[in-house]
Amino acid sequence: MSFARGTVLARVDALPNPGAVVVTPHPDEPFVTVLVTRKGETISAFRNKCPHAGYPLQHSNGRVIVQEGRYLVCAAHGASFGLETGACVGGPCDNGDTLERIAIVVRDGIVSVA
Ligand code: FES
Repeated sequence: MSFARGTVLARVDALPNPGAVVVTPHPDEPFVTVLVTRKGETISAFRNKCPHAGYPLQHSNGRVIVQEGRYLVCAAHGASFGLETGACVGGPCDNGDTLERIAIVVRDGIVSVA
């Protein structure tokens, strides 16, 4: 599924820094979620689907673990990904795997699908 251009994902001032949140862009599709990450002024978005076994990255409480301020860690089996790149950096994902990046624009403090 693709996300319609202009779909609002998050407010910049609501993003932990460094950190990540899980967003459900379409309330009628609750299992299609997006990770919005922030590290300093770099904001990124990725489809919330781990390339290892396809699970979403967050724990059951909705929180996404960010380690050392640099890595997203999948709650299922511990694969880790660069916060800014989405690239696999450790755990059971294969070297070269990445989270699927979603193109975004940030304007007036709002993160939207480009
Ligand atoms: S599904 Fe993410 S580490 Fe296995």
